[in-house]
Amino acid sequence: MATSAIPEQGVLEASPPRFSLDDAAEIAQRVFGIDGDASALESERDQNVRIRVPSGLGYVLKISNAAEDPAVVDMQTETLRHIARTDPSVPVPRMHPSRDGEYHPRVTNEDGSISLVRLIDFMPGRVFEAPELSLDALHNYGVCAAGVGRALRGFFHPAAQQILLWDVRNGALLRPLLPHVEDAHVRGVIERALDRFDADVAPVFDGLRAQVIHGDMTNQNVLLDDRGSVTGVIDFGDMSHTALVCDLASVLDSLLVDRGDVYDAAAAMIRGFGEITPLEEDEVELLPAILAVRASAAVVIPSWRVTEHPEVADYITGWIAGAVGLLAYLDGDAYETTARRFREAAADVMARPTRSGSGSAASARTAPGAFSLPAPIPDDELLARRRRVMGSISPLTYSTPVHPVRGEGAFMFDAEGRAYLDAYNNVPVVGHCHPRLVEAIARQAARLNTNTRYLHENIVELAERLTASMPEGLDTCVFVNSGSEANDLAWRLAIEWTGGKEEEAGGVCTAYAYHGISTAIHAFTPEEWVAGESPPNVVTVPAPDGYRGQHRREEAGWAEAYAAHLEEAFGELGERGRRPAMVLMDTGFTSDGVPVPPPEYLQGIVRRTREAGALFVADEVQAGFGRLGTLWGFETAGIVPDVVTLGKPMGNGYPVAALVTRREVTERFESSREFFSTFGGNPVACAAGLAVLDVLEDEDLARNAAEVGDYLRAGLRGVAEGHQFIGDIRGMGLLTGVELIRNRESREPAVGEADTVADAMKDRGVLVGTTGLEGNVLKIRPPLVLTRENADQLMTALDESLTAIGS
Ligand SMILES: Cc1ncc(COP(=O)(O)O)c(C=O)c1O
Repeated sequence: MATSAIPEQGVLEASPPRFSLDDAAEIAQRVFGIDGDASALESERDQNVRIRVPSGLGYVLKISNAAEDPAVVDMQTETLRHIARTDPSVPVPRMHPSRDGEYHPRVTNEDGSISLVRLIDFMPGRVFEAPELSLDALHNYGVCAAGVGRALRGFFHPAAQQILLWDVRNGALLRPLLPHVEDAHVRGVIERALDRFDADVAPVFDGLRAQVIHGDMTNQNVLLDDRGSVTGVIDFGDMSHTALVCDLASVLDSLLVDRGDVYDAAAAMIRGFGEITPLEEDEVELLPAILAVRASAAVVIPSWRVTEHPEVADYITGWIAGAVGLLAYLDGDAYETTARRFREAAADVMARPTRSGSGSAASARTAPGAFSLPAPIPDDELLARRRRVMGSISPLTYSTPVHPVRGEGAFMFDAEGRAYLDAYNNVPVVGHCHPRLVEAIARQAARLNTNTRYLHENIVELAERLTASMPEGLDTCVFVNSGSEANDLAWRLAIEWTGGKEEEAGGVCTAYAYHGISTAIHAFTPEEWVAGESPPNVVTVPAPDGYRGQHRREEAGWAEAYAAHLEEAFGELGERGRRPAMVLMDTGFTSDGVPVPPPEYLQGIVRRTREAGALFVADEVQAGFGRLGTLWGFETAGIVPDVVTLGKPMGNGYPVAALVTRREVTERFESSREFFSTFGGNPVACAAGLAVLDVLEDEDLARNAAEVGDYLRAGLRGVAEGHQFIGDIRGMGLLTGVELIRNRESREPAVGEADTVADAMKDRGVLVGTTGLEGNVLKIRPPLVLTRENADQLMTALDESLTAIGS
């Protein structure tokens, strides 16, 4: 039969690397700097070698099969690092970088092929057979399995889209392999299990809660100690993006075999799992049918493998008997009984039902739930309808619009499933549709939403956490809905602070800044001014552009020279009969083309602002919430602003914004004015704000922004070597500007080409924007969950796009 269409075959077919133990010890020493004794460990497709060291348990040197997809190895690496960041209590091995800082460097096999090699912790504990485990141990097992899934909720990696035979989603792929199962009766049982899956599960599978899962938490991959505590979860080689409940199925699949107390054992694991991750109705309902497909795979895949590789028979056919027993058990009417027993087991650990009531995935087949997705409308039709009712006042990005229908991590997907790496949107700072955000918003929305005129814990806690994260003195928080409103309020505070007469107040911003849409803040948004527009109350200063501006990085004191322009601006305001009230600056200078001045620039600005009696307002709508590698952008300059405005990423997409200042500033305002925002700081918005802070902290995203941002810029410098068009690469954290020029001597801006490049990158599945006075700077501003692999994808897309336009 033709098995070439079967996925995974390459890795399962190729023999594992065969380094001698001496060679393995030498690799551990030379590549990772670890001295120890090597001994062999079992593995079906890789070569695993234990490296013992004098203290501690030592390490495992994992030398991957040369046929292994490097992206899959990278996914495993990133998974372990992600879990270490999000929930260090989950017992998974820690990754150790090589001497060169790489997590999976390359080694050459004797046949010249290349393998990736990793060094991970050796985990304590041992593998147990199912009948050896007490109900308490099984409960712990379920808790741990759910813990792994919970730690992975915010994780995504392109390789997770791999098609695996073990993934229940691909149950249909088992059918062509059925002839390898010799026993006709067993074949019949499996066929019925697959028929049931096709009828009951496949049509609603995509409606089940899904994420990247371990996928193989069998008793071979989970280690326990003799007291029944889980000490290690290993082997992340079968991960994929699929229904979360498949992890519970893989647990049950391997641990219900050869036991007399099947239902009690299942109940212990289901309860343990549900205590950490409450189960949804459909998941419990479909679990027996999903379990049967897992058990079918455990029969079919080894039967197929054995016919082609009799030499591995002992290792893999051991699984078959137990799986056959489980399948035989489920065959016939036992599904209903099992479903009932599972429901009873899960009764206390169910997720609260959704509003849709009967709109479960299972019932959606006959009665679409209230939340079912409408079929996507073709782009041209939607575009025409949009123009009809919206005109063109709200423009679309790119020459042909992107029409995403779903988002996850750093990616958005269109209706055809095409993935776009989102390196443009700074709002989904913790990643698109982060499950913790979704849950926090949904939970609060289902409970209560009201306004700030009532007492509520969320608003107080968010205000406490924001003020606590800022320098002393910035102790008062006001909530609004958007960055524009926060800046608008800052302007009103500044007017009151400096005398209360609006017609006498003046402000300063940079020459191509964007600060918002209200009439007052439009005056501080020269990016949107039409030719000749010059609001009477605002004067601009040049942005601190050390590459093409009037003061260059090569000149000593260039940043201070830029800061000195503020004095001219104050002078100009004076000539117009206005006193300086507010200096408003985006600490990432995003619209000005992402110049990155040294700290002296903002320090010089703040000093002069204070001397003039005005307020310095740090607009953190772009740079705040970790983007520059620190929680707040102003921290990078070591300044303390008078007012800080926050927005965009604050709710990861849920509208919420705020202003933080000193108490005396709001008190001056309150003495003559009142302030109330209907939606600002409502409990749902604050739940979103709190969840963003939690995820930033738990996933250490500012640090990730700093590390991956540096990696990205270093890589982009490599790309620049091959392209005349790239003049300058600059940025901090995950805010990067790539300035395109036509001539490296004259630095003539490549006006127009930047949009062409952004379009070409979009066609290659990577979204970036353009910025700067001339629009010649590529603006790269992805969610802070960006990985090095994502950064590589971006660099390749830029490289190819520049080649395509002839740079
Ligand atoms: C620096 C800066 N400030 C303020 C705003 C305005 O925020 P919003 O669109 O939420 O009103 C923006 C929006 O892009 C911005 O970039």
